[in-house]
Parts: sequence; structure tokens; C-alpha cells
Amino acid sequence: MKGYKYLDKKGTFELENPELTSYLYFPICNESGVMSSLTPTFGGDSKMGQNTFLLSPVSSEDLHNNKSSRNFWCYIKGKGIWSATGRSSKQQAELFTECKDETKLEAGVLWQKVTRTSKQFGITSEITSFVPHTKHKSELMIVKLKNSGKENLDITPTAAIPLYGRSADNIRDHRHVTSLLHRIETVETGVILNPTLTFDERGHQENQVVYGVFGRTSDGELPAGFYPCTEEFIGEGGSFENPRAISEENIVPVEKGIIIEGYEALGGIQFKNIILEPMEEKTYILVLGYGDSKEELMKEADYFLSQMPWEKAFIDMKKYWDEKLNIEFGSGKKDFDPWMYWVSFQPILRRIYGCSFLPHHDYGKGGRGWRDLWQDCLALLMMNPDGVKEMLIDNFSGVRMDGTNATIIGRNQGEFIADRNNITRVWMDHGVWPFLTTKLYIMQRGDVEILLKENYYFKDPQCMRGEEIDHLWKQEDGNHVRTNEGLEYKGSILEHMLIQHLTSFYDVGEHNHIRLRGADWNDALDMAKERGESVAFTALYGENLNQIGELILNLYQKGFKKIALAKELEILLEDDCKVYEDIHKKQEILSRYCEQCKSRISGEKLFISSLDLAGNLKNKGGWIKKHIRETEWITNEEGHSWYNGYYDNRGNAVEGDSPTGVRMILTGQVFTIMSDTAVTEQVKEIISSADAYLYDPDIGGYKLNTNFKELKTDLGRMFGFAYGQKENGAVFSHMAVMYANALYQRGFAKEGYKVIDTLYRHSSNFEKSRIYPGIPEYIGGNGRGLYHYLTGAASWLLLTVLTEMYGVKGHYGDLKLSPKLTLEQFDDNQEAYVKFPFADKKLLVVYHNPLKKEYGEYQIKSIFINGKLYCNYNNPVITENQSHLDNLCLDGIILRKDIEALDSIMEHKIIVELI
Ligand code: G1P
Repeated sequence: MKGYKYLDKKGTFELENPELTSYLYFPICNESGVMSSLTPTFGGDSKMGQNTFLLSPVSSEDLHNNKSSRNFWCYIKGKGIWSATGRSSKQQAELFTECKDETKLEAGVLWQKVTRTSKQFGITSEITSFVPHTKHKSELMIVKLKNSGKENLDITPTAAIPLYGRSADNIRDHRHVTSLLHRIETVETGVILNPTLTFDERGHQENQVVYGVFGRTSDGELPAGFYPCTEEFIGEGGSFENPRAISEENIVPVEKGIIIEGYEALGGIQFKNIILEPMEEKTYILVLGYGDSKEELMKEADYFLSQMPWEKAFIDMKKYWDEKLNIEFGSGKKDFDPWMYWVSFQPILRRIYGCSFLPHHDYGKGGRGWRDLWQDCLALLMMNPDGVKEMLIDNFSGVRMDGTNATIIGRNQGEFIADRNNITRVWMDHGVWPFLTTKLYIMQRGDVEILLKENYYFKDPQCMRGEEIDHLWKQEDGNHVRTNEGLEYKGSILEHMLIQHLTSFYDVGEHNHIRLRGADWNDALDMAKERGESVAFTALYGENLNQIGELILNLYQKGFKKIALAKELEILLEDDCKVYEDIHKKQEILSRYCEQCKSRISGEKLFISSLDLAGNLKNKGGWIKKHIRETEWITNEEGHSWYNGYYDNRGNAVEGDSPTGVRMILTGQVFTIMSDTAVTEQVKEIISSADAYLYDPDIGGYKLNTNFKELKTDLGRMFGFAYGQKENGAVFSHMAVMYANALYQRGFAKEGYKVIDTLYRHSSNFEKSRIYPGIPEYIGGNGRGLYHYLTGAASWLLLTVLTEMYGVKGHYGDLKLSPKLTLEQFDDNQEAYVKFPFADKKLLVVYHNPLKKEYGEYQIKSIFINGKLYCNYNNPVITENQSHLDNLCLDGIILRKDIEALDSIMEHKIIVELI
């Protein structure tokens, strides 16, 4: 088996015999809500949400099990039946024989084309699928048939696309009864399905969504007839891969204007019989669509069938996505660059699909979690900073006054929904992510004042950090915290972040680390609610406290000498080491604070000196790190050392030697390194331990944990998963990438590069990973990439490659260039480049390393902007202003004002000479 080959720098690739690999799926979608998945043989599904599936929902196993697909049949007189998508029983049976069709897939952002040639039939099909990027709610499938043989072909073409038209809930629950709701109608160009009612978790409601499949030839010919009903099309004993309507002449299509009630629907469209001479072609346009009404649906289908040439819609769509993707990398690793193109696109996919709507993602109903919401913003911030400010501020309204947050995220920006569970789940890591994203924003834009912008707090019946119910809260009060006077209370973004961090600071378990509660980043550490502690994320809270302190100092320098905070916060600002050491005192403080905010709050503000507040936070952050250093550094019998990252529900440390073998988890290492808790010598020892216990180059690098060989019901369900899968010891891309990020941040570029390079090489080795280009959520024990496309790993990888590897970072609004590229990443001209937007300008930064120096040996010598020397570290001082710039050169800084002065339309080339 051969892998795929890139055709350009924009990630376009081709792959021969794609159907000989199982579980492949490709996303095509738009921002109007169409979310489809496509297999190489046009299986997969299409939906706009949990309750509106146009094609029946598929999970990964259905990809090989399901006979429902976007089929296109050719009845060839004198020869038999052939599926242009490869989905006939005969073609399936011949898959591993010499008679197999020749197939090739070509795909790019966001389209798929499959070319299929049958020597037996002398016919070739070329099928292109995409979703127009416009406001339309349609998927287009363009089928080109070509006579690739020597004789004339007499063909009767028929599209056969089963229409499901209901909620995913009904795939088994009331599947038949909901078919009785179906009202199916044939119109001039296709088949419409308009169910009367919907039966799903929302109860019985009048249906609002109309579905349909429509077609015409590219030269405008109308269909000749229709097969609107599954039963009749497949015939007794037949199936979608062996339909009797295609092979038997007595099952004739119906005309337009027919209405059928109460059956499973089929978008079956028969076209006029054609004679194709050798080399002659014929193209059919199919539109699969959703509408709010029959009229709207037909109007949209007509638009693509008669007005807008599909070629134009296709080109416009490609251009649209290409413009969205405004980051591009160039290096000596040619295939790494187009692979990164896909990685950069993945955060956009997760914004559209959420975490539920591709075949592996068969959980949830479409929403994203709190952590995902914030991390997806990282990539958006780098690609399209406009509008992100509002998004950040809006998202803070999900924070509760007790430091926890809403967990049900609405469809609209800043919309959070009350959790009506008796007691909700609290993830202890949730507080750290908003700060990381906000900090990136501040550094990119220099807008530290965003911290003073105000927003509401989220209110629902949950209080006391998920331990109690506020019986005083009434639905009429709405979802904002109110003051005793009944007014909706607003606090600054800084106050929101402080509440998240300070409540966590006091929320400690027996070992004085922050309690694990419902879980941390690892969702599957969910069985240690009472006594579990996450040292890993305690470390990150520690560094965040420190950095919030830094930001407050910056505010101070800008003249904000005092900060207004809700009066209730006063007790959390205790700054006494004796209290920090005293677990009971801490718990008591937290409980007093939460009690005050249980229902309503005073609305009174406290004004605190910025300097005092910054010092206070830094003391807390410093204490956390010191405490972890003093208590959690472990050395095992083999002489390896690393940090213990967890305590289980029996209060025992989780990592170290055990009767079943060495127990080590990557998470605790990542965050002690990232937070500067691990001192440099310790980082070196951690790297060596991770290499000894977690590294496996055959499956993409660093695994999440060693095999505990125990069903640890005192820690989490992850231990029920097979070892090597998902959160139990897979190479889990997100954590591996965060490990790389942490290493780069600490100056361990060679080691960070190794993490990314191993992951990249495995993911893009198709024979092993069996996925299209991009980064999967994890790599299973057998090397297969799983849960492709929708993963937070993509945002973090883009962040890491851009800001650490290429060292392109905002620094309070200025641009800081600090490359950490290794020598092998420079191309033959000793160059590596990155294109990205900054300060609303298009920049191209080229690093030139003529002396072929390795990372650690080179430094910046001079910076040129559009051919003009900007600064030169080794230059004799020319003017006072120039000497100032030359100092900046040493730090790789280009002042924001100098970038802002550049023209907004053209791309600006910044050459950075290394010495
Ligand atoms: C997924 C979830 C993420 C969670 C992780 C580990 O990772 O989306 O929130 O932290 O599993 O349980 P992802 O798919 O983003 O890689």
C-alpha cells in the first residue's frame, strides 16, 4: 500500500485505492451549519444538528457496515450494473481481485474527488463532493461519467441517496414509527421529504426542516423519473448495493407530482438514457439540501442546478477557505508544511462540528466543552484576531461566583445553559484555560486593559463548587448573578480570573494540592471525587497566579494603581504562609467565601492596591511551586526521577514503582515543566524518565501513561479502557503537543522538536496511521490514528509551531522573534519562513541561517523589513534612535508602531539574519 502524495503547498493530496483502507472519512461543511462526512465510496452522513440528519447518522463501525450511501448507478445495456461510487455487491466482491476498479482519491480543503475506472465496463466516473461556503444549506455532488472503453455505451444513470430526515435519537429508538411521519413528494428535479412531526428528546413537535435530493445534467436536462421509496427501489430481497430497481426492467420510476406517505424515503433520481461514444463525457449535478420550507429548499436547489455553475461555486469555496487559512510554514521538511496546513485548518473544523459530528465522535449532541471552547480560541486568535476580544469577554460570563463554570454551552457566543442536574460535575482544570487564552490575546494585541472590561457571572442552582443546590434561585432570576437588591452584578475579567484561581488555591485535599473533583484535563480520571488531587494542574494554577500578578504590574505601570473587586473576595486575599500550609484553614476560608456567594452577593466593591494584589498572587503562586518541589519529586528503584502528578481516592500517590510495574503519567511532567516548577536539572531528568517509560517511536512518540495493570476504580474509568487506547496510555496528541510546548518554553528545543517530529512522522505515515493529513486525537496501540480532525491538539500544535518553533510571539503588542528551529528544519538555502497576520498586517518572516548553526548556537544579527535594515545588533551606533532599535534586535523585537505603519494590503517581508 502506498501513502498519499501532496500536490501543492495547500495540503491538496492524492491517494490511490483509498477504499482499501478502512475507517477513512473526510469532512465537508460550511459555516451555515451543514456538516457532512464522506468515505472514499461516498458513505458517511450529513446533518445540521442532533435532530436534523439528512443522511442517517454513522459511527465508525457503520463506515464498513452500512449499505446506505450516496450511490450513483449506471445500468449499461448488454453489460450489467455498475456503481459509479463502487457500491455494488459485485464491486465489493471484486475488491481484492484483479477485477477491482482502479481508484484514486484527490482531496483538499474542503472537497473530495474520486476517480474510478472499470476496465470490464469501459467506463470512468469522476465524482466531486463539496459544500458551498455560502449561506446555502446544501451539499453538492458532481458526477462525471466518461466512456473510457472502445465501444459505445448505452447507459441509464440513477442517483440513489437514502433520505433519513430525522433525529439521531431515532436510529434505533422509534426508527420505524418515525418513518410513518414521512411525507415524500416528487417534484420536477427531485425528491422532497417533509416529515409531519419530529419524535425526539424534545418531545413530539411539528417538523420544521425539509430535506431533499435534486438533480439535473450539467446541460440542464431534467430527470426522467424518480424512486422516492426505499422498499420499492431495493425490491424484495434486494439491498442498496443490489437494488432490483436497477437490474430489473419491471420496477419503473414514478413521475413528478407523486406523494407517498409513511415509508422510508429515497432520493432516487433516474436520468434519461444516454449513448456515450468512446472518450465522450456526461456530467450530472446533484444537490442534497435542507430547507425551512419546501419552497426555500427548491429555490436553493434550483440555484445550484440552473443558475450558479458548479465550477464557480467550487472555485469560490476553495478561495474562501484558503483566505481563512492565513498561516503558512516553509522549511526544509517539505511534507511537514502541507501537513501543518491541515493542522491549522482543524480548529476551524472543531468550531463547526463541535465534538460530536464526525464518525468517531459518536458522543454528545454537538456542543463543545468549556475547555475546548477556550482552547479553540487560541488558533482563532492567531489566524483571525478580529472579533476575538468580544468572544473572550462574552465567554467569561460562563464563570460562576464560586469559581466553577457553566458546563452546557449554548449555540450563540457567550450563551450558557443552566445545569439542572441535582449535583453537577466540576472539572478542576477548567479555571486555567481562560487565563492562557486571555494572556495570548493580551500579548498579541498589547491590550492589557481588557482585564478591566466587565461582564456578568453565571448563575444556576449549582453552588458551593458543585456540592450544594441553591434553593433560593428561581428560574425567573435568569442566569446572571444578582446583588441583594436584585440587580445583575458585573465584575471585571480580571475579577473573573481571580475568582477561578483563588477559589482553586484554597480548594485543597489532604496533601495540600488542588482537589481533582470530577476530573481534570483527563476526562477519564473521574472516580476520585472525594480524596483525589491533581498535582499536575495545581502546578499550572501556580504559574497562572504568578503571571496574573505580572499582568497586574503592567496595569500598574499604565497608571491603574487600584483594582476594584467584589467585596466578597477579601477573605480569599489572605496572604499568610501559615495559612497556606494549613489545609483545614484553607478549606474553611473557601467554604466561608462560597457561602457568601451561594445565592446573591452584596454588590459592594473593594479597592485594592495593584502592587499589593500582584505581590499577593505571586506569593501564592510561589508557594504552590515550592510545595510541589518539596513534596512530589520522586525517584524510583531504577534511579529515574519525575513528578508525581496525582493522588487517588484512597489518598495515595499514584506514580512511582508499584508491584505491577513503574507508574508514570505524562500530564504531571508537562505542567510542572510548563509552570517552571521543575528546575532545569529536573527537566533533564524528566525527559530521560519519559524517554525510558513513555516513548514509543512506532506509535507516534510519548504515551500518556505506563500500563498500570490495575482496574483502578479509585481513580477513573480510564483504567477500564484497554491499555494503549484513548486516555489510558495512547499517544494522546493533545498532551504530547503540550509536552513539546512546555519543553520549548524551557529552551529544550531539540527535545520539543523530537516530540512534534515523531508525532508528525507517524500521523503522516499513511501505512501506519491510516488517516488523511492532519493530527488525530490519539494514536491507538496498533498505530492507527483515531478521532481525526476534531481535537484540541491542533490548536496547541499551531500555537507551538508558530510561537515556539518559529518563535513568532506577541509581547505586550510588539512582535518578538525568537526562533527555536533546529538546523535540519532549514532548507537548502538555509532558510525557513512563516506567513502570518500581525497587527492587521500580512507578514512573511524569513529566517536565514547562512552559517548552518544549530539552535542554541545562533542568535539574531539583523532584521530587514521590505529590504530596509530595521536593526542590526552588531552595528556601530548611528543615531540614538537606532541604538535603541539595535538593543531590540538582541531581543528580536519589532515595535508594534513600526508594523502598524506598514501598508495593509501587501505582504511584508521580514528577513532575519542569524549569526
Ligand atoms: C478530548 C477532549 C478534551 C479532553 C481530552 C482528554 O481531547 O476534547 O477536552 O481534555 O479529550 O480527556 P481532544 O479531542 O481535544 O484531543
